[in-house]
Amino acid sequence: MYLSREEDGILQGDQGETLRRMMEILVALGDIYGAERLVPVRSAQIAGVSFKNIGEAGLEWISDLQGHVAVPSILNPAGMDLERWKEMGIDEDFAARQREVVRAYERLGVTADCTCTPYQIHPDLVRRGDHLAWSESSAVSYANSVLGARTNREGGPSALAAALVGKTPLYGYHLDENRRPTHIIAVDADLKGSDYGALGFLAGRIVKDGVPLFRLRGRPEQDDLKALGAAMAASGSVALYFVEGLTPYPASGSSSQRNDRGNEKSNQWINKNIDKKIEREAAEKIALENKDIDEVYERYPPGDSEMVALGCPHCSRAELERIAALLDGRKARRELWVCTARRIAEASPDLVSRIERSGAKVICDTCMVVSPASERFRKMLVNSGKALSYIPGLCGVEAGFASTEDCISMAEED
Ligand code: F3S
Repeated sequence: MYLSREEDGILQGDQGETLRRMMEILVALGDIYGAERLVPVRSAQIAGVSFKNIGEAGLEWISDLQGHVAVPSILNPAGMDLERWKEMGIDEDFAARQREVVRAYERLGVTADCTCTPYQIHPDLVRRGDHLAWSESSAVSYANSVLGARTNREGGPSALAAALVGKTPLYGYHLDENRRPTHIIAVDADLKGSDYGALGFLAGRIVKDGVPLFRLRGRPEQDDLKALGAAMAASGSVALYFVEGLTPYPASGSSSQRNDRGNEKSNQWINKNIDKKIEREAAEKIALENKDIDEVYERYPPGDSEMVALGCPHCSRAELERIAALLDGRKARRELWVCTARRIAEASPDLVSRIERSGAKVICDTCMVVSPASERFRKMLVNSGKALSYIPGLCGVEAGFASTEDCISMAEED
């Protein structure tokens, strides 16, 4: 990979040991994936925060680093609500280690908003056409697909390396040639709410690491797109998708190598008269209908779920409003978590108290998958295709899938 004189100096240790090690990570990645050079990033979103996932070795690795991030950088969810961890049943030891992890990142200048939806609270972290180094798979999918930015699915160390150096290797989804549909998925169904998570759950299993283009009947909202992309990133490893008539698409023949700050001009909106070239190039055509979506609910019934968890990815204010309205005048008799970013909860105290009046908990900084607190339950009911994919393997807990309305009804049952 080509390095400028300054970049090569960093690799030789001119700017200290931490930056040398970070540059080594970036160069190794660039060499593996055949990147021509590095490209500046607008922001970084760093995974590897939950002490449940990184353990002592991870904490030591981060604590050892010196210096300050070169671009605005934000954290993925931690293993607990940083304030209400006791209510979650987290023990003192874990809490102490988790706080140390967050402090270690803060010392490097990373903002300690622990969320998988950074675009919901810091819109300035990403603009259309920007190159980014983001880790969390649903955030990567949203940034690439809905916001028209460019990022690979970074690991924690490579995102942190990009944050400290301010650059990432130019390969993968940074390049136009990898941002073309590989599958066209025609969906002949009326979708709403959690149906988008069910659709993503199915589509991810079919396309794996492909780039699907959806033809939908209706017009999904932003939260629907968030759920769709999150589910595909978990059941497959989809990092980019398109929705005909809705999401940005780079025009054929353009090259991202011309312009580091993104190709504003090459991002056009797909319209209903979809480019014939795309139609020819997308290798596979898939048709899904109502019965396919229904089968996801049937295959993962609520059963006797002891816990209900909403907010994967983290709830937007609009989702909190909807949940608050559904819970008004009702009692959550089972454990009910509503996960969101702390900034969203703090900006919506009215909604938080309406939700918590029912007995539900509004949980910040963490989620049902990355916190060890959910592992004490036998079965969890979710409205998210991503949580449905991850909970059995990552938490050792059985998972059921239902609409938000049905999740809340389950939480109400004795
Ligand atoms: Fe976010 Fe946790 Fe789901 S990190 S996307 S709420 S698994």
